Amino acid sequence: MRVAGTPYRTIWPSDTDSAIINIIDQRYLPHRFVVEELRTVNEVCTAIREMHVRGAGLIGATAGFGMHLAALAAPEHNFAGFMHKAAADLVKTRPTAGNLAWAVKRQLEAIAQETTLAAKRARAFAVACEIADEDAEFCRRIGEHGKEIIAELSRKKNGGVVNILTHCNAGWLAFVDYGSATAPIYAAHAEGIKVHVWVDETRPWLQGAKLTAWELGEEGIPHTLIADNTGGHLMQHGMVDMVIVGTDRTTRCGDVANKIGTYLKALAARDNGVPFYVALPSSTFDWTIRDGLSEIPIEQRSGEEITHIRGLNEAAEMTTIAIAPPNTPCANYGFDVTPARLITGLISERGVMAASEEDILRLYPEQGTKKP
Ligand code: MRU
Repeated sequence: MRVAGTPYRTIWPSDTDSAIINIIDQRYLPHRFVVEELRTVNEVCTAIREMHVRGAGLIGATAGFGMHLAALAAPEHNFAGFMHKAAADLVKTRPTAGNLAWAVKRQLEAIAQETTLAAKRARAFAVACEIADEDAEFCRRIGEHGKEIIAELSRKKNGGVVNILTHCNAGWLAFVDYGSATAPIYAAHAEGIKVHVWVDETRPWLQGAKLTAWELGEEGIPHTLIADNTGGHLMQHGMVDMVIVGTDRTTRCGDVANKIGTYLKALAARDNGVPFYVALPSSTFDWTIRDGLSEIPIEQRSGEEITHIRGLNEAAEMTTIAIAPPNTPCANYGFDVTPARLITGLISERGVMAASEEDILRLYPEQGTKKP
């Protein structure tokens, strides 16, 4: 998508040296546009753990390139050992996003098929690029399928503005390009359908305020930033036509782990008859589990993300300030699980499906035989 009119992806190898992987360091957005170079798998682990990059799809793509950097550094006499250690280090960085383990496994399986060191290294780079390209293409297709839902709502409103609420950032910054929840919005806007987005600020990391508001602004999409607790009120007053969110991991039965607070939006949507959609590329499905509440690990992060807040001060410097009494005990759960029963539909690269095992397998029949 565009940054000041110039198209960007969120991650890309250097044109001249594939041993350098560029990322947009999202900790500085929207105030500064900083590109960081990653050269080692340890740097990749830090970038994921400390959220220079974040969002399920982008975490997966970054891990794919992390395995490529690991392959470049792995010694011939202990290639497999080095790669398994790199894989374990990457998988540990963030526990909830399903795409992370998926990308690492895809790399290990592909590399194992090659016999020479040169071929293993070449394959690791090719697979990293494939994962990134596929992520972008799948998100583009999510946009095409999801656009039809928005178009239908627009027809029902005789071409009036379709008001869409989203939580967190499942935009292009959370993927390689387009985003999952935002892709249908971009596609609808490009076709001239009138849309307006309610952007939840998304405490405590503020992905909505910092990232979603910024990327929608760069694309010229009308939007309004709201405090996290506003959505229910808007729905009660008929000011939300649909909710679209992303997901960090989705079970084969359609339970969805997404940024903390998503469940409350789904409850409010159900109470007010507002359709609640979840957009995801298939890399976010965890085909090995059924029950989101008991089986999806929920990341807990430092309480400092709640007690402190980071932004631009009056001197236009990035700064962190305290907002809670010193030493206040905190519980910082990163995600919650929205049960399938509250979800109107899942939008993936293959189409729109009900959040049920039966309908998910209708679009992914190849997963039907691999029941956990
Ligand atoms: O903690 P983050 O920023 O990595 O969390 C991911 C998210 O932004 C959301 O949960 C998002 O809605 C799904 S990621 C595609």
